[in-house]
Amino acid sequence: MTFDANAIRALAPGTLCSLDGRVAVVTGAAGGIGRWLAAGLGAAGARVVLTDLEGTPLDEVRDALADARIDSASLPADLGSADAPERIVGGALERFGRIDILVNCAAVNRRMPILEMDPDTWDFVTGIDLKAPYFLSQAAAREMRGAGGGAIVNVSSINFTYGLEHISVYGPAKAGLSQLTRVMALEWADDGIRANAIAPGYMSTPLAAPIWAHPDRSRWILNRVPMKRPGLPAELAGLCVLLASDAGSFITGQTFIADGGFMAGGRWFTPDS
Ligand SMILES: NC(=O)c1ccc[n+]([C@@H]2O[C@H](COP(=O)([O-])OP(=O)(O)OC[C@H]3O[C@@H](n4cnc5c(N)ncnc54)[C@H](O)[C@@H]3O)[C@@H](O)[C@H]2O)c1
Repeated sequence: MTFDANAIRALAPGTLCSLDGRVAVVTGAAGGIGRWLAAGLGAAGARVVLTDLEGTPLDEVRDALADARIDSASLPADLGSADAPERIVGGALERFGRIDILVNCAAVNRRMPILEMDPDTWDFVTGIDLKAPYFLSQAAAREMRGAGGGAIVNVSSINFTYGLEHISVYGPAKAGLSQLTRVMALEWADDGIRANAIAPGYMSTPLAAPIWAHPDRSRWILNRVPMKRPGLPAELAGLCVLLASDAGSFITGQTFIADGGFMAGGRWFTPDS
């Protein structure tokens, strides 16, 4: 690449991060984080397929995106169904004719001690958090490779590496998702497909609402997060656009932590003021 005016102008964020002409699929798009990731991709120029469970406010999200002049389509599907990957990828192709970006954001959690865990709950959590992204990515990659490539962004969690009591299935599933991200990167690099993951810390969303509602737990978190506040879902959109766009063209196989400094290390206990 020549170091000239054209190459330098192409580094402007509006060009480097542009998703014009690209089609993104976002799972969990009616949820606290998914809707903001969909919005971020749409604001960067992508057309977006919004998928989530039937009965979730997908149409509200679609209408809000339309108000911001973002073209999107809602596609209800249960990721626990074996035919979900085919339905979602087929629906994206039918609506927008291609698929360039897949964001695996949907997840479920059940907090209980290992001694109380039962096989059905284990299957339920790992089914949505690990098996579903595995097979949806497989279906999406089959399309992407024939069209010159794409980008997969998996939404992991700091629990992929940080153990928390009573999170004995979700955490290992997220660890699996981050490991799967590495293998996708290895197997699909020749196809022009990059795979990365975002590992949020403690965010302000419905999934995390029970933690924030618990006085001791919220106090514990705020004492350990150097930024002393929950993350806002909108604060993950920039990282998602980076990983989905040409701005991240040499990045693959990684999990990026966005946590207000939680994983940087321990702080001395600070009594509440
Ligand atoms: N909120 C946090 O503090 C936090 C922290 C770390 C990681 N995360 C991760 O961020 C992602 C989004 O979490 P969130 O906070 O937005 O949660 P959320 O509960 O608001 O959103 C999750 C979405 O997934 C959907 N979903 C659940 N089961 C489904 C199924 N069977 N089929 C289709 N869709 C299904 C839900 O309907 C929901 O809209 C998850 O992967 C979660 O693990 C969240």
